[in-house]
Amino acid sequence: MAGAAGPGESSERRYSREVAAPRIEVRPYLPAHLGRILSIERACFAGEAYTGELFRHFYEACSDLFLTAFRDGRIVGYSITCARGHSAEIVSIAVDPTHQRDGAGSALLAYSINRLRRSHCQELHLMVRASDRGAIGFYRGFGFVAGETVDAYYRDGAAGLRMERAI
Ligand SMILES: CC(C)(COP(=O)(O)OP(=O)(O)OC[C@H]1O[C@@H](n2cnc3c(N)ncnc32)[C@H](O)[C@@H]1OP(=O)(O)O)[C@@H](O)C(=O)NCCC(=O)NCCS
Repeated sequence: MAGAAGPGESSERRYSREVAAPRIEVRPYLPAHLGRILSIERACFAGEAYTGELFRHFYEACSDLFLTAFRDGRIVGYSITCARGHSAEIVSIAVDPTHQRDGAGSALLAYSINRLRRSHCQELHLMVRASDRGAIGFYRGFGFVAGETVDAYYRDGAAGLRMERAI
């Protein structure tokens, strides 16, 4: 019957974007990737970009889901997700502006969600600029729903929007 869970499948909803684009390869982050990650970070976030020191911190604290996305052997994006107990947070995700809308962000998020599911994590959340319609649309495509808005969440005074979904 259409829509029913097949043998061995969970009946929980899967979003189509959780099937990653095959041309994108997701690998664990390695310190050798830092230079390229920093240049993607600056291209995406300019004055709000994380520093090398902060990336080193996340490599220590959240290495399980600190990921890089490769296309044709070149790093095109990264994501950092930190899990604590049954809850996890997407700390950052960014794709080289010249490679956006090509599936790398989806591949990183799909990989993270699948890993969190296997580790029995129950909830995933993040903060996004409340004005960032592109990123909010990206997360909605993965089933995230908007929660509270936090005034002056970012250093430049912009509001943040919490988004969350079950795993
Ligand atoms: C948000 C981001 C990570 C998405 O990565 P990506 O590789 O470009 O996303 P994908 O190609 O996997 O896009 C999947 C879908 O998300 C939606 N989407 C992604 N970017 C979008 C945008 N700018 N505007 C509208 N929809 C968007 C689309 O539905 C897209 O599917 P489509 O291209 O078939 O229409 C990337 O745009 C990025 O790095 N942005 C700058 C940094 C940033 O804002 N990070 C998030 C901070 S919370």
